[in-house]
Amino acid sequence: MSARLPEFTWDALEKVGALAAGHPDGVINLSIGTPVDPVPEVIQAALAAGADAPGYPLTAGTPRLRRAITDWVARTCRTPDREFGVLPTIGSKELVAWLPTLLGLGPGDVVAVPRICYPTYEDGARLAGAETVRADSLTALGPDNRVRLIWVNSPSNPTGQVLPATHLRKVVDWARERGAVVASDECYLPLGWTAEPVSALAPEVTGGSYAGVLAVHSLSKRSNLAGYRAGFVAGDPALVAELLKVRKHAGMIVPAPVQAAMVAALDDERHAAAQRERYARRREVLREAFAGAGFEIEQSDGGLYLWVTSGEDCWATVEWLARRGILAAPGAFYGPAGERHVRVALTESDEKIAAVPSRLA
Ligand SMILES: Cc1ncc(COP(=O)(O)O)c(C=O)c1O
Repeated sequence: MSARLPEFTWDALEKVGALAAGHPDGVINLSIGTPVDPVPEVIQAALAAGADAPGYPLTAGTPRLRRAITDWVARTCRTPDREFGVLPTIGSKELVAWLPTLLGLGPGDVVAVPRICYPTYEDGARLAGAETVRADSLTALGPDNRVRLIWVNSPSNPTGQVLPATHLRKVVDWARERGAVVASDECYLPLGWTAEPVSALAPEVTGGSYAGVLAVHSLSKRSNLAGYRAGFVAGDPALVAELLKVRKHAGMIVPAPVQAAMVAALDDERHAAAQRERYARRREVLREAFAGAGFEIEQSDGGLYLWVTSGEDCWATVEWLARRGILAAPGAFYGPAGERHVRVALTESDEKIAAVPSRLA
C-alpha cells in the first residue's frame, strides 16, 4: 500500500533541518505547524476527570459531546438550524486521509483538490485508488463527471487564502448537479485575519440544505490539542450516517477521555480567543520581519501560516533561511504551483518569534 504514496513530506526536510539546527542560538522551527502553547487547564482537567473509562466508547460520540459539537457548529458556522449530522474523528487528518475510501471511491473516480494544498487530500485519493485533479476553479475542472469528491480549504494551508461565500456556493452548486460531495476542510476557520472565513455550512453557501456538503473541523490548532487527536465532521445527515456505519465496523473511535476533553474545549471560547491573540501577535512580528527582509507576503488572509516568496526556487529560500537558523516549509510540498514560495508557521514560542527579526536583518 505504501507504494501508492509519495515520500513522507517532512522526511525531505531532514538535511536542511540539520543546517538550521547548527545555528549557535538554536533553531527556530517555522516548518511544521505544530502547537507549542500549553493545553488549557480546563481541557486537561476534563481529560483527567474522564480517565476512568473501562468500557468501549461510542463511535458516534457521547450525547454530551454530540451536543457540544452541534452547539459549536451552529454558532461558529452560523447555521440557521441544527439539522446537520455530526461525528467525532480521531483528529481531522485521519478523516481527510480515509474519506474517499469511507465514501466508497475507487479506481475510475476523481478527487478534486486545490492547486496548492495540504498533501493528505491527494494521499487519501491514492489510498482509495482514485485519481486526483488539481484545480482552483470550476472552469479549470472542466466537465469531468468522474469527479466524486471536491476538497476546499479556507483558510488554506499553506497559502492562507480565504474563499468568499460566492465561490463556495458555486462549488456546492456544481457538485450537487453532478452528485459529487464537497468536503470543506475548515480546521483554520476561527483564524481569519484580514478576511472573514465562511463555513460551507453557512446558509449563503448551502442555500438552506446540507445535501452533499461536509465540513471537517479540528481542535488541534484552536485549542492546542494536536496531541489529543480531536476533530469532527458535520454536514449532510445522510452522508454523516454513512460515515458512522463504516467507522463503527472499522473501529475508528475517539477514546472516551478525549471525548470528555473535547466537550470542555468546545464549550469554552475564552481559551480559543486567548490563543488566537497569541497567533495574531506572532503573525505581526513575522510579517514585519519577512517584509523588512524583502520577501513578498501573498494571500495569508487567514490560518496559521504566512505564504512568502523571494522570487526564487523554494529550496533556495529554505536554505537561505536555514543558514540563519530558521526552518520553513518549501512550497513545493503543497503542489508544483508552490515551487517559488515558502510557508512560515506562526507556531513557535513568543521568545523564538521575537528572535526572527534580528536573524533576518
Ligand atoms: C488543512 C489541514 N487539514 C487537516 C489537518 C490535520 O489536523 P489534525 O489531524 O491535527 O486535526 C491539518 C494539519 O495541519 C491541516 O493543515
